[in-house]
Amino acid sequence: MSEYVIEGGHRLFGECDVQGAKNSALPILAATLLCNGKSTIKNCPEILDIRATTKILEFLGCRTERKGHFLTVDPSSADGCEIPETLMREMRSSVIFLGAILARNGKVRLSTPGGCEIGLRPIDLHLDGMRRLGAEIKEEFGHIECSAPEGLKGANITLSFPSVGATENIIIAASVAKGTTTLRNAACEPEISDLADFLNSCGARISGAGQGTVVIEGVKSLNGTTHSVITDRIAAATYLCAAAVTGGEIKLNNIIPAHLGPMIEIFEDTGCKIRTESNNIRLKAPERLRSVKLIRTMPYPGFPTDIQAPVVAMLTKADGTSVLIETIFENRYKYIGELVRLGARLRVDGRMAVIEGVERLHGARVRTTDLRGGAALIVAGLAAQGTTVISEIRHIERGYEAPEKILGMLSANIKRIDTGENTDEQE
Ligand code: UD1
Repeated sequence: MSEYVIEGGHRLFGECDVQGAKNSALPILAATLLCNGKSTIKNCPEILDIRATTKILEFLGCRTERKGHFLTVDPSSADGCEIPETLMREMRSSVIFLGAILARNGKVRLSTPGGCEIGLRPIDLHLDGMRRLGAEIKEEFGHIECSAPEGLKGANITLSFPSVGATENIIIAASVAKGTTTLRNAACEPEISDLADFLNSCGARISGAGQGTVVIEGVKSLNGTTHSVITDRIAAATYLCAAAVTGGEIKLNNIIPAHLGPMIEIFEDTGCKIRTESNNIRLKAPERLRSVKLIRTMPYPGFPTDIQAPVVAMLTKADGTSVLIETIFENRYKYIGELVRLGARLRVDGRMAVIEGVERLHGARVRTTDLRGGAALIVAGLAAQGTTVISEIRHIERGYEAPEKILGMLSANIKRIDTGENTDEQE
């Protein structure tokens, strides 16, 4: 088991690069299954969720090879149609393989993903999408089986909610279906555009990705390609929160400022000065942040649910009371109790968190409850006086590549230590 040990209370300063986007790399790696040749994914982050994805690809029969941030997938002998429960449990997002396996092999069997640490996370929209593309679906004893022996056919599909994963599964499956699919009320996250860019460079014909209506003209086959994933906007925003709460001044390189739009406004509301250039962002924090009246998480281009927890951590030291409403996931405040251990003053009422800023946080032992909640503990730990020890960091390592190194480059005093015990359970 490993822990992060943080000596907090110091200003962050300096500059660094930001990792590739987890939420782009995952669907793109699933989509490599549809290619007739090898694909190389560049800027692929070295994180636990990608390791789990690689295990699934290999279980399905792909050959994979990692060299630094390059991951090559050769799907030529991938005839597997089933993902075992152990691998499904290792990564909740493995439902992202649904459309790719179905389109490649005409059938797929998955165990029902069930709830996870941030909520129930049903997959009804994914299944409805596959049904509309012509799949037959059987759900029994914790398993889902989809089959389309005659192949998938283009369809008109309107999502009742712009689910990111359902949008991705439908785009992937429809890219090799017979005929044209029009997907309405699609999710608009930048990672969807990145997936479409990857598929288009494999020969797919997808237009409108990143907007509410996506049109996918099915093609007969896709070739392999080389694609570089976009920068992780959530990791970037997490490091900005860390700089802001410590009164710091940092510059993040190789980012796409437009993807940080709604987050930049929040930093400005707290009194931070932000300057962006074509591929970098600078943040200079005031001595004390101002509180923010109301933040509501929304689908893109609204304020992202994934940055909710680090922003709450940042606001724990702001001057005044802030309110945050989580509209996307029902159970995304589990980390709040741990922030209270660091001296934060907050309360949660259903989907609303009320944060009364305090002048000082103090170091303590805290436990990670989920990926972004864990990132919030790092942000708060950096701002707290004294030593903070964060346990169960495997949650954080699912999505953040070596945060101790990145934050070290930004002058933080944070170490990852191995405690020798092994009490980690599988999620
Ligand atoms: C993706 C991201 C995750 C992010 C989320 C919202 C990946 C790997 N993960 O997750 O980091 O927090 O988008 O931006 O990209 N829903 C249904 N039925 C469905 C699917 C979703 O009711 O079939 C609900 C969910 O329970 C949730 C909401 O829709 O309340 C949003 O989920 P969705 O956009 O699908 O998120 P994910 O794709 O799981």
